[in-house]
Amino acid sequence: MKVNSSNVTKAIIPAGGLGSRFLPVSAAIPKEMFPVFDKPLIYYAMDELKSAGVKDVFIVVSPWKLPFFESFFNLKNRYSRLSDDPSKLNIIQKLDFFKSWPKVHFVLQQEAKGLAEAIGLCQNHIGEDPFFVILPDEVFISSNIANPSQNLLATYLEFGQSVVGLFEVAPEDVKNYGIAALGDCLGESTFKLTKLVEKPSVDQAPSQYMLPGRYLFKPDFWQAIEEELGQISLLKANQELHITNAMDRMALQNLLIGHVIRGERFDAGRPEGLLSLSQFEYSRF
Ligand code: G1P
Repeated sequence: MKVNSSNVTKAIIPAGGLGSRFLPVSAAIPKEMFPVFDKPLIYYAMDELKSAGVKDVFIVVSPWKLPFFESFFNLKNRYSRLSDDPSKLNIIQKLDFFKSWPKVHFVLQQEAKGLAEAIGLCQNHIGEDPFFVILPDEVFISSNIANPSQNLLATYLEFGQSVVGLFEVAPEDVKNYGIAALGDCLGESTFKLTKLVEKPSVDQAPSQYMLPGRYLFKPDFWQAIEEELGQISLLKANQELHITNAMDRMALQNLLIGHVIRGERFDAGRPEGLLSLSQFEYSRF
């Protein structure tokens, strides 16, 4: 099936979570704004999406986080008066990255009810277009190779199906992630997926391939997630709805494939991963 690359121009970055692995600091600053040496964590997701040709990013935030995000994404206004001063050129150049970033739109998520709700809140904005979802606390440093979103886009263009990123982890780590069972190999690093399970125990895990927060969905995703979206209002206070069961349904109907991602991966959603990423960036400084 032929697909037009220019129609993948939208992405969702869910950022409404509580950041409970980082308490108490995540009660003061949104996790997505944590400093990674000299950048806020959200920088990596934005840069990756820019390189994949995305034009509009819908960031799903909780109300208390919104001012932090607005303040960062309005930085142009804050620094604009410096642009008239030639001696401040080096400062202005440090902000050049911002010029080419996709346009950002904020979508409010009142309570942290999980990834399914965060994505569901964007349905009207996405409409019938294919779209990326990227979890900003999974960071890939892809020096000299295509980044994960570029890889997903290429796979989508080749196979015309919704595609999720895969990354192999050690057996003791499968319990922390969504895990996929791989079926037939369709091409280099690309597989049919036969099953998806959220955070299985090591003996229940169908493989060691985890979902590192990179998804490119076609509109048939919305039918697959209907059941989860219908349950949102029934959730108890401490419950969250994942998208893994919806993806499992898509896999069963042959609507989902996986692509193994290369590059240096950091799980910056965990303190030790964030620290390693900062150290890595410092070593490149
Ligand atoms: C989420 C997803 C999980 C994915 C992981 C990647 O889990 O639910 O499928 O593998 O991100 O980091 P969370 O980190 O929110 O517990």
